Amino acid sequence: MSAATPSAPSPADRRVSARIGSISESATLAVDAKAKALKAAGRPVIGFGAGEPDFPTPGYIVEAAVEACRTPKYHRYTPAGGLPELKSAIVAKTLRDSGYEIEAANVLVTNGGKQAIYEAFAAILDPGDEVIVPAPYWTTYPESIRLAGGVPVDVVADETTGYRVTVEQLEAARTERTKVLLFVSPSNPTGAVYPREQVEAVGRWAAEHGLWVLTDEIYEHLVYGDAAARAGAEGLSSSLPVVVPELRDKCIIVNGVAKTYAMTGWRVGWAIGPKDVIKAATNLQSHATSNVSNVAQAAAIAAVTGDLTAVEEMKVAFDRRRRTIVRMLNEIDGVLCPEPEGAFYAYPSVKELLGKEIRGKRPQSSVELAELILEEAEVAVVPGEAFGTPGYLRLSYALGDEDLVEGVSRLQKLLAEAK
Ligand SMILES: Cc1ncc(COP(=O)(O)O)c(C=O)c1O
Repeated sequence: MSAATPSAPSPADRRVSARIGSISESATLAVDAKAKALKAAGRPVIGFGAGEPDFPTPGYIVEAAVEACRTPKYHRYTPAGGLPELKSAIVAKTLRDSGYEIEAANVLVTNGGKQAIYEAFAAILDPGDEVIVPAPYWTTYPESIRLAGGVPVDVVADETTGYRVTVEQLEAARTERTKVLLFVSPSNPTGAVYPREQVEAVGRWAAEHGLWVLTDEIYEHLVYGDAAARAGAEGLSSSLPVVVPELRDKCIIVNGVAKTYAMTGWRVGWAIGPKDVIKAATNLQSHATSNVSNVAQAAAIAAVTGDLTAVEEMKVAFDRRRRTIVRMLNEIDGVLCPEPEGAFYAYPSVKELLGKEIRGKRPQSSVELAELILEEAEVAVVPGEAFGTPGYLRLSYALGDEDLVEGVSRLQKLLAEAK
């Protein structure tokens, strides 16, 4: 009798596919979940983890949704790519805010900006296509690139350049496999805003090499300080295809209502792009999820057609918190926080604190430091590893003023013990 040869595992024995098994949990959501669990267990945790405004959605937007709930036509499916009225409103809003002229056929309404990013990469990437991703990057970008079969190529910009990449760095990362440049301004996690001349330089470089650009404008309204003063003169945040019109046919804009209108839970975003790509992405969405919640689309119409008074009020609060957090973080020895000019994140370097002793422990990485901070100060922050750059922490300042001051005071107290 011959010995039984071990049989190769059948596909049915593999539980999770290799493709999905390689995707990691969103680190920012994980930190937030841990903080919320500790809070639920009675610990007075202050969370700087989540990237969402603490304000309720403005009343006129909520009213539009309530009205839609009472109107049977909003109880039905909409076209997979979005309500025609919302698409028209996005066309008008894009002209108002960016000076960019588009048609409804250039728009796909998605379940948040996240789905727009995922579907955009799925629509344009083939296996092995490279996407240049400036780091620190928002955690979702590399994962959605990989899911689409693409290869993310990091280009790191640190605090010495205000976390903005240069054309020279981008050029050094370009190969014959490069298809797309990912661009985001204002940035999550750093709050960096590219001035118009830098937007133009980056855009011209991409156009010169025939590259595609996916530009994430979700924080377009949230700019402060010098960037806001510049924006006044230049239009919101210098939309790439407006500054470099040659890019128009190879440019996808990602946007949404989540951050500007305190609507993270409503799940409405959109992609703007060339008609063939938008059509392909719409086909994908028609099979994956169909339309975004009809009621949420009605709310989004109210948001993008309304005036920006409520947005301005939230911005004033964010700006005040921004100045407080940056000042308080820079008072800590070993912490260096460049001034973020947009979004609602501070991204200090904590490299000088690593390896020092704090309450009997010696954190060697920003992951270990963030764990120590959560345990000892009951403050939740996201380590830089989540954004491709160890040695940093991300703190969202979209939380109440009192909590913010209390949370950073706890950090000051704990980190002053480093020796
Ligand atoms: C840079 C950036 N883009 C897009 C999104 C997506 O937002 P949403 O899917 O909530 O619309 C986020 C959310 O954190 C973000 O920070």
